[in-house]
Amino acid sequence: GAPVEVDLGPIAEGQIVKVFWRGKLIFVRHRTAEEIKAAQDVNVATLRDPQPDSARVKPDHAQWLIVYGNCTHLGCVPLGQQGEYHGWFCPCHGSVFDTSGRVRGGPAPINLPIPPYTFTSDTKIVIG
Ligand code: FES
Repeated sequence: GAPVEVDLGPIAEGQIVKVFWRGKLIFVRHRTAEEIKAAQDVNVATLRDPQPDSARVKPDHAQWLIVYGNCTHLGCVPLGQQGEYHGWFCPCHGSVFDTSGRVRGGPAPINLPIPPYTFTSDTKIVIG
């Protein structure tokens, strides 16, 4: 599939936008300072799928989290800004994800994966 360009300019802080790339749902999340801090302050060793937040965002662009939008359990679409960690909550079987898209509870085995993308300017990414 062709790469998809996303203009980040119109996406407000705290907002999550859905885009599609290669037929897959992707969340583009403009994280607030609080959400970034919550994601960074976790003891990574306690995580089911241990990954620091810094490995899940681009340097100097920590406010942007780009993740695949299907639950890693059985593929439902989790709801944003919900669940114990205000990341995502999957209504199908209760998986909980944090503001880095990392699994924090429920049956999902791994974090929401990160698609390949690059910043082409401060306000534009290309996915793919
Ligand atoms: Fe999300 Fe089962 S599909 S918890």
